[in-house]
Amino acid sequence: MHGDFPSTNGRHDLAARDWQGVRAGFFRGASDIHAIHDEMRALAPVWRAPWDDVYVSRYDLVSAGLADRALSHVPPGDGAMLERTALHDWLMYQEGEAHAAIRQSLQQPFVGKGIAALRPVVAEAVDAFVANVQTEGEIDVVAAFTRAVPEQVICRLLGVPATDMPLLRGWSASVRAILDTGFDDAFSGGPDAIEAMSDYFTGLARRLLADGDLPPLLAGLPGLVEALGIEVAGRNLAFLAFAGHETTVHLLGNMLHHLAQTPEAWRALGADRRLVTAAIAETLRLESPVQKICRWPLRPVELAGESIEAGSLIVLLIGAANRDPAQFADPARFDLGRAGRQNLAFGRGAHVCIGRALAEMEGAMVLSALLDRWRAIEPVAADWMDNSSIRGLDRLVLRASPA
Ligand code: HEM
Repeated sequence: MHGDFPSTNGRHDLAARDWQGVRAGFFRGASDIHAIHDEMRALAPVWRAPWDDVYVSRYDLVSAGLADRALSHVPPGDGAMLERTALHDWLMYQEGEAHAAIRQSLQQPFVGKGIAALRPVVAEAVDAFVANVQTEGEIDVVAAFTRAVPEQVICRLLGVPATDMPLLRGWSASVRAILDTGFDDAFSGGPDAIEAMSDYFTGLARRLLADGDLPPLLAGLPGLVEALGIEVAGRNLAFLAFAGHETTVHLLGNMLHHLAQTPEAWRALGADRRLVTAAIAETLRLESPVQKICRWPLRPVELAGESIEAGSLIVLLIGAANRDPAQFADPARFDLGRAGRQNLAFGRGAHVCIGRALAEMEGAMVLSALLDRWRAIEPVAADWMDNSSIRGLDRLVLRASPA
């Protein structure tokens, strides 16, 4: 069905077997994505799959690829072969002037002193969902707060009424699934959930502009509407709503998963709260919520000796890069003592995540609140999501002991 299996780095014997697990739409949560990545990195760090996409798993190559301007963010066929969908207008799929205009409008609240203004909103969500969490016994932290805190934060920051939060949860599940299905499906036909979500946020943008009372993240909305119109603005508010919480949800869950597996780290955090920052960085490295990011070369390029044609889908495996032993000694270990080695969890270059400081703030405030309540945590049960792009838990049951 895919023709001859192409050679990569001189290897012909890399039968698709488990590697199918990295393919969009084929990952099953129960499979060990890290073992697949380890094998791929060791045997073929630039791997052309039988389905023709190119997977890059080594740290140095992923790092360079993320910032390489010859690798475009715009899916090929845009506006010509494919019907234009709301997804095409998302900031992360833009280049050049459109990218600059949207990014400039959206990033203002995240830089400099702007971020401090977001703190009360995070504190309110932590109070609502974490401050009174049970101190003893078994608790599913995903159901209790790891999803609810980032949801409430992003809704407050974007002016989404609390009564509409269930809508966001439903759309987010659909977008997650779309990001897992592959680009041909995602960009053709305009998936209903994305269109519905975009319509909602376009309506919200209209209302907010009419009221003149803009919520904290939307100071740049009037400029964005002026530059690109209300529809593109609405589509990007939808993107911000998704990117601004679905990732942080998994930072929180993945962090608690690893801390429950590493009791000495929980004890160290209890004794010295300055380690909270290290716990967040180590989670982002070891269990990156965004496992992969796609690019399309504008012209033929060479990666580690492999020639790649213009327009090929290049999948940069952030999750694999962040466990590269050439960059991180003993990479599978959760180690609060790691310092000075940059992980790639937030990307790099012109499209580097704009919400990093907010995500880190949410992680730090949730973890601090939990350290106040729990002396120790033990793992009871964990169900990973079936998703090749977003790495996180559907359920995480821990047993807590009171502080
Ligand atoms: C742990 C949490 C998060 C992770 C792991 C994460 C990860 C990423 C990554 C890897 C990219 C780069 C995409 C690329 O290069 O194509 C990105 C971009 C982006 N992120 Fe985040 N993110 C997180 C939280 C947030 C939050 C809280 C917000 C906003 C409230 C946000 C908004 C964005 C936006 C708007 C972009 C697109 C930037 C651009 O294309 O110029 N993210 N994020």
